[in-house]
Amino acid sequence: MKLADNKATLSFSNGSPNVELPVYHGSVGPDVIDIRKLYAQTGMFTYDPGFMSTAACQSAITYIDGDKGELLYRGYPIEQLATQCDFMETCHLLLYGELPDAAGKQKFTRTVTMHTMVNEQMQFFLRGFRRDAHPMAIMTGLVGALSAFYHDSTDINNPEHREISAIRLIAKMPTLVAMAYKYNAGQPYIYPKNDLSYAGNFLHMMFATPCEEYVVNPVLERALDRIFILHADHEQNASTSTVRLCGSSGTNPFAAIAAGVACLWGPAHGGANEAALNMLHDIQRQGGVDKIGEFIKQVKDKNSGIKLMGFGHRVYKNYDPRAKLMQETCKEVLAELGLGSDPLFKLAMALEKIALEDEYFVSRKLYPNVDFYSGIVQRAIGIPVGLFTAVFAAARTVGWIAQLNEMIGDPEYKIGRPRQLYTGATRRDVTALAQR
Ligand code: SDX
Repeated sequence: MKLADNKATLSFSNGSPNVELPVYHGSVGPDVIDIRKLYAQTGMFTYDPGFMSTAACQSAITYIDGDKGELLYRGYPIEQLATQCDFMETCHLLLYGELPDAAGKQKFTRTVTMHTMVNEQMQFFLRGFRRDAHPMAIMTGLVGALSAFYHDSTDINNPEHREISAIRLIAKMPTLVAMAYKYNAGQPYIYPKNDLSYAGNFLHMMFATPCEEYVVNPVLERALDRIFILHADHEQNASTSTVRLCGSSGTNPFAAIAAGVACLWGPAHGGANEAALNMLHDIQRQGGVDKIGEFIKQVKDKNSGIKLMGFGHRVYKNYDPRAKLMQETCKEVLAELGLGSDPLFKLAMALEKIALEDEYFVSRKLYPNVDFYSGIVQRAIGIPVGLFTAVFAAARTVGWIAQLNEMIGDPEYKIGRPRQLYTGATRRDVTALAQR
């Protein structure tokens, strides 16, 4: 980051001395006011619950321009990556900062492939769950359990350990997600197959059974690969910030990623794809397109507590570029499967059209986000609703570990320790029990 000529001067109406604060430029996007010395100079904190105006770190991985609806991974537009690259190239880009050449891609892909199996002991963690346990509950447990292995390579201060942990996590997440699915389905686990692509291998582990050959459909394989690319990273979102804060204590990297899984589960974040599909199902059950008006009315009624799931975003105040790409993927997959007239897709398109013409949404700059269409694609592929967020977690793992390793690799990083505005009881003495 570069020191700007411009400075910020903080003045107080009570005559306290002014405070000069440095301003820094990044390579693109908003400048930052450096407040690191504010408390020492003024005895005051800044106040920003939800971090609406706070840059918690500097990063070179992902840039979002919310007003333009622009998303760049290491400078490359998501539209180009999603149509000209695959997920392995995207992982290499996010981890190392550059797209690989053909030889580099082959080497990286081979390395990931050789780490897709999990220790045989991992299967015994699943047995403790009810068969109907939510896949994200299972994933939170399984990813946390990975921290009990690999003690030979979890010194986060060792760059080689950071790299092999990243490879293991990227490689094993689809295996664990498929195991969670098979456990729910009461079917035997399917081992990875090294002659399949990353996405093809996931489809095979999900839908193959010991009883017959499962042939990967290339259209579905490409669609899933694109879903992985679109979900790979997204700047300092809630789960990535969780991973950074958790990892800042120097904890085991697998444990830090498990914290990210737990955070992503929430319906305001990665859980929105499951919630969005359930919302579409509910509207469909109540009468479909004819009921959209009534539903929108409920959404606009603050007392209803109903939100249009898959809409709105803290950063995007324009169309989420991933939602557009996801909608195109929807059309490809539904056409391939002969589901072109899928009522839920038609309902989603009608709902989007009505919402984007409604003052309530327009005035609040609420547009479809990545979660609005992703559930329709996944459902068409045969992935159950409860597994959508687990698929999101598998895709986002590369972003989480790239961001964690970027933080740990910065010699200036410190343990994250926010402060507060205290509004509780001031000092008082305990009254003896007999007198209370
Ligand atoms: C992801 O951060 C990331 O980058 C996340 C993510 C990633 O890749 O990591 O992009 C993935 O999590 C996408 C977001 C998925 N969540 C949803 O789709 C859930 C529904 N959306 C909302 O809950 C909401 O839009 C948030 C949480 C996404 C953003 O909320 P903010 O920025 O805190 O905004 P807000 O809640 O203050 O909303 C501003 C106004 C409010 O109304 P007013 O108080 O001004 O009257 O817009 C309203 C909100 O009530 N509003 C919605 C709405 N989202 C916001 N009203 C109806 N439906 C919605 N979806």
